[in-house]
Amino acid sequence: MKILFLNGPNLNLLGTREPDKYGNQTLKDIEEYIKKEAELLNVEVNFYQSNIEGELVDKIQSAKNEYDGLVINPAAYTHTSVAIRDAILAVNMPAVEIHLSNIHKREEFRKISLTAPACIGQITGFGANSYKLGLIAITDYLKSLQN
Ligand code: DQA
Repeated sequence: MKILFLNGPNLNLLGTREPDKYGNQTLKDIEEYIKKEAELLNVEVNFYQSNIEGELVDKIQSAKNEYDGLVINPAAYTHTSVAIRDAILAVNMPAVEIHLSNIHKREEFRKISLTAPACIGQITGFGANSYKLGLIAITDYLKSLQN
């Protein structure tokens, strides 16, 4: 089973970016943590981060033939991107949306996710653990399809 983790804009700055909201771990730290968790679940994981909307769309499109599922933190594009939502729907791949912070507890504009309706569900507010919970959610979902 192969899972692609997608990260949107400014998540490359994790560790120094607003640590009160997003924690002290870098994206690399989170990736290392997820790789270990994935090994325990016997799942293969890869990671991609871009600050550019079209690059994220391209990656979702090319994931179709290579991956079984997506875990995506679209970051600010969560609240604006019809293109990313449409790309997830277009490839028809199971996806889980994740956020470090609880987007429902923050500014009004963050409470709307354009991308979540294209996903199985959303995990929000558990810091770096949202990535682990996203991995568990997508793995369980894909396994349930095999039974
Ligand atoms: C975020 C929440 C978004 O509103 C914000 O734009 C981000 C990070 C999160 O993980 O909490 O960049 O997706």
